[in-house]
Amino acid sequence: MHQPPVVIIGSGIAGLWTALHAAPLPVILLAGNSLGADSSTGWAQGGIAAALGEDDSPARHAEDTVAAGAGLADASAARQLAEAAPGEVRALADLGVPFDRRGDGSWALSTEAAHSGARVARVNGDQAGQAIVAALTRAARSAAHIEIREGWFGRGLLARGAHGCRGVLAQDRTGAWHAISARATVIATGGLGGLYATTTNPPGNRGQALAWAARLGARIRDPEFVQFHPTAIDIDRDPAPLATEALRGEGARLIDDRGQRFMPALHADAELAPRDVVAQAVHRQIVAGRGAWLDAVDAVGRAFPERFPTVYRACTAAGIDPRTQPIPIAPAAHYHMGGVATDSDGFSGVPGLYVVGEAGCTGVHGANRLASNSLLDALVIGRRAGLRIKRTDSGLHLSRGGTEKPGPDLSGQPLRRLRQAMSRHAGVERSAAGLQSLLELIDDMTAERGPADALVAARFVAAGALMREESRGAHARSDFPDQRKPVAHTELGLEQLRQVL
Ligand code: SIN
Repeated sequence: MHQPPVVIIGSGIAGLWTALHAAPLPVILLAGNSLGADSSTGWAQGGIAAALGEDDSPARHAEDTVAAGAGLADASAARQLAEAAPGEVRALADLGVPFDRRGDGSWALSTEAAHSGARVARVNGDQAGQAIVAALTRAARSAAHIEIREGWFGRGLLARGAHGCRGVLAQDRTGAWHAISARATVIATGGLGGLYATTTNPPGNRGQALAWAARLGARIRDPEFVQFHPTAIDIDRDPAPLATEALRGEGARLIDDRGQRFMPALHADAELAPRDVVAQAVHRQIVAGRGAWLDAVDAVGRAFPERFPTVYRACTAAGIDPRTQPIPIAPAAHYHMGGVATDSDGFSGVPGLYVVGEAGCTGVHGANRLASNSLLDALVIGRRAGLRIKRTDSGLHLSRGGTEKPGPDLSGQPLRRLRQAMSRHAGVERSAAGLQSLLELIDDMTAERGPADALVAARFVAAGALMREESRGAHARSDFPDQRKPVAHTELGLEQLRQVL
């Protein structure tokens, strides 16, 4: 009998790694415009955290992951992540990813915030994402079990009754619609930075996974935890280019308009404090009118073009020479710690539906992800999902029924309005009054346009943020500045969302 395929939406590291590990099952990979091109992975400057150094251990990596997570990171998920990390980096190296090495061939590892030692495997300073996408693209193109559909976009899921996923609703570049039945469906569409006016994410990353999965009954975990990267380059570009945290690992300093460092007064680790702490400090500098710059003149100086070529290009294109000038910076939405709740294999609890990479949430990142754990999470859960799908046959492809209509779209001026409101009210600092006004806007726009995926995703973030009456990790409430006990995850489905609002 003809075997239905595994259908994967998204061609970043999570989608590609799942596809490769589902072999020999037939896989259809919906790649968007072209393989890897629309994904956050290709934009990643940081590398992959792994205990590869002689004086390091997975136990220490797991401890740092949990400590950065501000009381909310799942300890067993952190152990699983850290233990798998060295093997995943070696597997990528075997596929040809040219990680930086020292003269003797050992790993050249760099330091990033909140790691207790040098632990980040990088490629040519700031080019890990591009190199990983190139290697995985090569591997996927030569894998006989993977059919790549470029110019195809996931637009929604095919439901089976009230609780099951039997495939994907897709649109090709001619605009034609296709219902693709799947043995298993995998969402690997990335995060939701595109819902914010200032972001480092590709513009299409607007949290569609949350809307699609919730409509099929999946739970959304910790949607309020959005990580803001402290050092996006502030040159009025959308999306904003990143100045990698590795610059601070090399000794670059954060300074104000008088050239004074502001981090030493705020945290013992100064510029290498956890990312949430640094992002909030930079945000407050800017709100107070003192501005914020990243000064790498002494730390990197003339070596900038060779050591950080991507950042160098972004700066010089805007008329800034980072060898001799500080770089203007601002926080930008960078990574969603929350997402569709899954188990440690990326299974969503909805029969037939898996969610991997940034779109999913095992709870491993808690309230604040440790730097360079994101590509790693995509590898670990992607591999496990591929293997689990091979062991499972949901039988759902044999069933019929369910909605096959896409949600309405949101673009142009309404999308701009939503993005501005998200940055203003669900950004680095939040309050009940701001979140209420954001929810009113989402209500009005939903009444006018229908439940577009972006509006559903934004509603999850705003509702989670309103309900969490404390400040923890990346979620800072000006009206609830302290942490509260007991610590608990947020879990919302569409039903709860309606009750809360
Ligand atoms: C960076 O290079 O600063 C980003 C790394 C990350 O998000 O983990």
